[in-house]
Amino acid sequence: MSSTPRIEGLARRHKPLLSRFENQHVELADYLRRWALPHHERDRLSRTRIALDVVDGRERVIGYHSLAAASIEHGTLVSTHFASLPKFPLPAILLARLAVDTGAQGQGLGRYLFEDALARAVEVGEIVGVRLLVTDAKDDAAVEFYRHIGMFALGDGFPCRMVLDLRTTVARGS
Ligand SMILES: CC(C)(COP(=O)(O)OP(=O)(O)OC[C@H]1O[C@@H](n2cnc3c(N)ncnc32)[C@H](O)[C@@H]1OP(=O)(O)O)[C@@H](O)C(=O)NCCC(=O)NCCS
Repeated sequence: MSSTPRIEGLARRHKPLLSRFENQHVELADYLRRWALPHHERDRLSRTRIALDVVDGRERVIGYHSLAAASIEHGTLVSTHFASLPKFPLPAILLARLAVDTGAQGQGLGRYLFEDALARAVEVGEIVGVRLLVTDAKDDAAVEFYRHIGMFALGDGFPCRMVLDLRTTVARGS
């Protein structure tokens, strides 16, 4: 990233900027264009934060993430790491979507947005019990990206559910 992008909660005034966002997964661009705002504002199904930068003198959305609440069946957590926990569904934050504009990839923005999402999850965890950050990786590249930044996979098919134990994250203080 040339400079630190601004991250803001999605709002109606961002609407004219959303159509220029591009991603190799068309549905991720489409979600931002069509559904992110109604889900965020009207339906409260997810909360989206966007990264903004000025590209060629114009403000652009260069990335976003969407978060929602989730509950993870204990039986799906194959790792012995969770063996001592009670066998009821575990409270989680779902990183429902994370995408960086094709023109801004490979410059650290994906990590920056992930860390923003993680910080939000930790913040929520100060108010309600939340043990995991989970996401569903669409393909090998996404699995490798999430592995690289510290998540681990629960299976080997796609979408591949991946988790991060927030207890460990909080203990590390990040
Ligand atoms: C996945 C995605 C969000 C990554 O964003 P990005 O801005 O290109 O990633 P970054 O530049 O922040 O990379 C962060 C780190 O991950 C690494 N990384 C990125 N993609 C990787 C991959 N496919 N495999 C392994 N490591 C990867 C980078 O080398 C970098 O490592 P470093 O911080 O140790 O130097 C972006 O490529 C994207 O939008 N992909 C399509 C949508 C998608 O797959 N979303 C994921 C949810 S399904």
